[in-house]
Amino acid sequence: MPRSDISGFYRLSPEERLKLVKEFAGLDDAEAELLQRSGALSLQQADRMIENVIGVTSFPVGIATNFLINGKDYLIPMVIEEPSVVAAASNAAKMARVRGGFRTESTLPVMIGQIQLVDVEDPMVAKERIIKETSRILAKANEQDPVLVKLGGGAVGLDVRILSSSIGPMVIIHLLVDVRDAMGANVINTMCEAVAPMIEQITGGRVFLRIVSNLAIHRLARARAVFAKEALGGEEVVDGILKAYEFAAADPFRCATHNKGIMNGVIAVALATLNDTRALEAGAHAYAAMGGSYRPLSHWYRTPEGDLAGSIELPVAVGVIGGATAVHPIAKICRKILGMPSARQLGEIMAAVGLANNLAAMRALATEGIQAGHLKLHAKNIAVTAGAEGELIDIVARRMIEEKKVSYDRALAILRELKSQP
Ligand code: MEV
Repeated sequence: MPRSDISGFYRLSPEERLKLVKEFAGLDDAEAELLQRSGALSLQQADRMIENVIGVTSFPVGIATNFLINGKDYLIPMVIEEPSVVAAASNAAKMARVRGGFRTESTLPVMIGQIQLVDVEDPMVAKERIIKETSRILAKANEQDPVLVKLGGGAVGLDVRILSSSIGPMVIIHLLVDVRDAMGANVINTMCEAVAPMIEQITGGRVFLRIVSNLAIHRLARARAVFAKEALGGEEVVDGILKAYEFAAADPFRCATHNKGIMNGVIAVALATLNDTRALEAGAHAYAAMGGSYRPLSHWYRTPEGDLAGSIELPVAVGVIGGATAVHPIAKICRKILGMPSARQLGEIMAAVGLANNLAAMRALATEGIQAGHLKLHAKNIAVTAGAEGELIDIVARRMIEEKKVSYDRALAILRELKSQP
């Protein structure tokens, strides 16, 4: 089995890295070539994805190394515009390897479709009638997607809630659908619309909204890992990380940033596989607030041996079939690099990467601060913005870091100085 702990990966050129990834994932020449061609998504493909298309844009695809998940090595494609995130995930995964890497699990891929029923005479009676007709409603829903049913998915249950609102009570029906390897929004919406007339007929009420809920509480991914205190830098670092965690647990202002750090990893994998990032963000943050206050998505504690243990649980409405995931050439290659995971496995990978990024961020914050890691690439970007090219980019960036003065003005001045030298 190929290993993902490739030492010095970051020191290689993009071409050399791709060669290793190609071997690891068994990519063919065409796939490897496509990865390095910006504009892999054709204008025609783009034009079929959204409306009023005038062009396409590109983002970097980075590879996080060192991931060991349930005993299997993964190279993780991450698409993100922010420096440090890929390196942070790789570093945390390296530290996690010492104690066996990440363990993950997930629930069945059951999504919720909401049907809003109003104008019922007696909400309790309506609720009882709906419950009594559950099997008929589910059968009607399942008529909409025989393929899904054949694959072992389909509508599996109903939850009926009575909601009080400022305009009176509403009956809210949750249609629970096992969407298998799809993200599921489309099939859910179709099913909700299909059963709505039946629900009106059963209750005498009127249906308004029929739409997926992004608070996918039944579709959860979990990951956990132990980080050896020596790998983290000692007991003091463990202490510092736990203080950072308790800060997030006690304060929504900090907690939003703590969870943002988790989503750095989750969303980078979602973008690599072209999943719906807004659905994931909405679900994750709403889930974090489920208990009535906004809480960290991760949980950290010290083990009896003094190591640091972390776990994460979050809703992951992601798919590996259908929609944009099936169309975008780079997304398809990224799925191949991940070993063609099922939707559940992909969600679990995302949870592991989110936990890794969370650990890396807390460790940096509790020790040298976050800027040191950011500075190197940032300095290079500033040097380029100031007009540096070729080897001058590294020279200007290095000088600014040494001087601890990374700014556009300074980059310009160094460039001028260098260019005036014979
Ligand atoms: C930056 O993208 C993410 C962090 O702010 C996360 C955190 O503060 O935990 C570093």
